[in-house]
Amino acid sequence: MMTEVQTPDMYLAQARACGSVQDCMSIYDKWAATYNDEVMDKAQEYVAPSIVAQVALRVSDNFAQSAILDAGCGTGLVGQALSLAGAKIIDGLDLSSAMLKIANETGVYRSLSQADLTQPVQKDDEIYDLVTCVGTFTNGHVGPDPAIREFARLTKKHGTIIVTVLEEFWEAAKFSAEVEKLVAEKLVVVVAKELIDYVKGHGDKAMLVILKKE
Ligand SMILES: C[S@@+](CC[C@H](N)C(=O)[O-])C[C@H]1O[C@@H](n2cnc3c(N)ncnc32)[C@H](O)[C@@H]1O
Repeated sequence: MMTEVQTPDMYLAQARACGSVQDCMSIYDKWAATYNDEVMDKAQEYVAPSIVAQVALRVSDNFAQSAILDAGCGTGLVGQALSLAGAKIIDGLDLSSAMLKIANETGVYRSLSQADLTQPVQKDDEIYDLVTCVGTFTNGHVGPDPAIREFARLTKKHGTIIVTVLEEFWEAAKFSAEVEKLVAEKLVVVVAKELIDYVKGHGDKAMLVILKKE
């Protein structure tokens, strides 16, 4: 039987077309071994992790002492960028055990756990100074509810949440409405919201949103 050869764009397209959490887990379990090389290649030029790490450094009072949750950490590209910027306490969580295995090999995470961000996160309230979520709010992956509210719950008072949302997914998945709801409940304030380069080789943009826990 012939094995179908997957090209980087095929994985990206399949990931964005995921129809279920199970489907998504199975694609990333297959993609994990080649993910880093492919997304960092010139053809995709995935710049979001380094942009978010620089923003995190800029908005944090004491970055080296900040407890950070990297939600949807994948293979650890964001953790590595945060670590390079000076972060020392980084926990990661992700749906795919194969992605987590590679994240573990980076050596930058204090802990890594498997979790589904479409469900409540099994962690205590207000334990992180900073929560990042990069590349996971995208078509076929994770929507705003309950994830953003969960990030707010996990974040300490006056802590920061930094997320990227694929531009076309921002309106389609009603992120604005969810953020406005949390603002109206005085759970968070919006510090900044801007379009940034994301998968630059594709010309993809993402909404970068910075929230502060009230
Ligand atoms: C495009 S990758 C981004 C990974 C990493 N943050 C990065 O920037 O390289 C998307 C990640 O979301 C994870 N993911 C997809 N659905 C998820 C879910 N329901 N819960 C948690 N993680 C999920 C995938 O396993 C994958 O690692």
